[in-house]
Amino acid sequence: MITRPIRAVGPAHPGLLELPELRALTRRIADEVRAGRHEVQVHDDRRWYQLLSADGYVDVWLISWAREQAAELHDHAGSLGALTVVSGELTEHHWARRGPGMRTRTIRAGRSVGFSAGHVHDVVNERATPAVSVHAYSPPLTAMSYYELRPDGGLLRTRSELTEGALAG
Ligand SMILES: [Fe+2]
Repeated sequence: MITRPIRAVGPAHPGLLELPELRALTRRIADEVRAGRHEVQVHDDRRWYQLLSADGYVDVWLISWAREQAAELHDHAGSLGALTVVSGELTEHHWARRGPGMRTRTIRAGRSVGFSAGHVHDVVNERATPAVSVHAYSPPLTAMSYYELRPDGGLLRTRSELTEGALAG
């Protein structure tokens, strides 16, 4: 696997990244994945993920999703996040404060989305073919909380965990 520093996002961003920069970064690394510069594995029994780069300001993860593999309804603590789908297709179920309740969007190959602070979502591969995605978080992901949807559409936080090198997506 080739892992390189990713500080060359742009000269105006020596530190924490905002959503547009995070999305651009995941698109750029997704191009590298498509070019074969990063090994990708797909495991039928669990989601596979690999930390591609970390510099203290932003972490970049590569994730594969076999059919029906999903994250879990979660937030990203104080981190902003973004993802680009390299191949396949992912479905995101995200919580909307207004409603309240869940909204769903499809993220196709080549598309990127950003996650602002407080974004609560689940991500799943509902297709038969595997999906691959690149995710970036700034500041780096250190903790995540998990939720259940209440009958009234609100969220019930069920637990919080330090990430410690693991990832939910
Ligand atoms: Fe997430």
